[in-house]
Amino acid sequence: MFYEYVDCGSWSETTYRANSADFTKIELRQRVGMNIAARNQRSHMLGEPVTMPVALAPTGLAGMQWADGEILAARAAERFGVPFTLSTVSVCSIEDVAEHTTQPFWFQLYMMKDRAFMERLVGRARAANCSALVLTLDLQVQGQRHKDIKNGLSTPPKPTLRNLANLATKPSWCLAMLGTKRRTFRNIVGHVDGVEDVSSLAHWVNAQFDQTLNWDDVRWLRRLWDGKLILKGILDVEDARIAAATGADALIVSNHGGRQLDGAPSSIAMLPRIADAVGERIEVLFDGGIRSGQDVLKALGRGAKGVMIGRAFLYGLGALGEAGVTCCLELLRKELDLTMALCGITDVAEAERALLANAESSASREYATQFA
Ligand code: FNR
Repeated sequence: MFYEYVDCGSWSETTYRANSADFTKIELRQRVGMNIAARNQRSHMLGEPVTMPVALAPTGLAGMQWADGEILAARAAERFGVPFTLSTVSVCSIEDVAEHTTQPFWFQLYMMKDRAFMERLVGRARAANCSALVLTLDLQVQGQRHKDIKNGLSTPPKPTLRNLANLATKPSWCLAMLGTKRRTFRNIVGHVDGVEDVSSLAHWVNAQFDQTLNWDDVRWLRRLWDGKLILKGILDVEDARIAAATGADALIVSNHGGRQLDGAPSSIAMLPRIADAVGERIEVLFDGGIRSGQDVLKALGRGAKGVMIGRAFLYGLGALGEAGVTCCLELLRKELDLTMALCGITDVAEAERALLANAESSASREYATQFA
């Protein structure tokens, strides 16, 4: 149930598949004889130094992939030197993660109707020393994921025959889950009146996503939070222009990993247009479909200052806990490093030069000026 929650997109999964498939259409430029001995992946995201420009995206229920999953992923990110983002609908709370880490992390917010609760959440993020707030704009209504319906997704799982049979084949997962007290949405339970058990919680969450959300609310949040503000879920140039004018520090080109509007273009297809339109005014981050270091390089080459990964680290977390997230990050960096070498670049800041299409367009620009 929890694996399929990760490993799926909405409806026909067209956008979900396009997110990865469109990366394969981007060609890298093979160069030789470039002295590639000293290579650097270090960079900055939102002014913070990072060992490579890859952050962990906010993902709900990570604590059901592995007991205490958000704490483990945050620790792996901290040790590796990249940002971790905690979701509003995480299992471990803001306080749980803060207690088990030493570096500031980012906190993702869904806009709920209960604005007093929102203010308290923002206050808790401030108290936990979070260095950025990520407001997700593309999930005021939920895209339908067929697998979640088939599985009757809930946390903790309901004791149906099917679930019990499934759990019986995963004894180490069950033991680890029995050994932790973190098994439900701990950012919410205990912080909202009337939400004491799982069924009231599910009801509250579904009823709370505020469909009136608009740019005035974004400006309201901008006034409430004086730290870095990131707007997530921008897939349209027009929206990117509005986002850039709100005073936010960054936006994330994202279609929620193909989990919301099925039929929308892939994130990587929209990235260059958005980066061209607003990249000078606001930091442009990216997510959707990244599964390798080659993908990271391609997204950077298309104008992202940094990228986020969702499923890539969740697969690692589900397989091996904290070690799995570290393994995922190490694989990405190794692939990024070797691919940079084969493209003849030595710094991630030069990623643009690694794309064949960019080389061709600059060559044709040179040609045009030369023969103008
Ligand atoms: C997500 N995503 C997400 N986004 C968000 O803002 N808040 C959330 O709680 C979640 N939850 C969530 C759960 C799961 C299981 C997935 C896979 C994704 C979206 C996430 O932040 C990101 O946009 C995508 O995961 C990026 O696509 P890839 O890297 O998974 O292809």
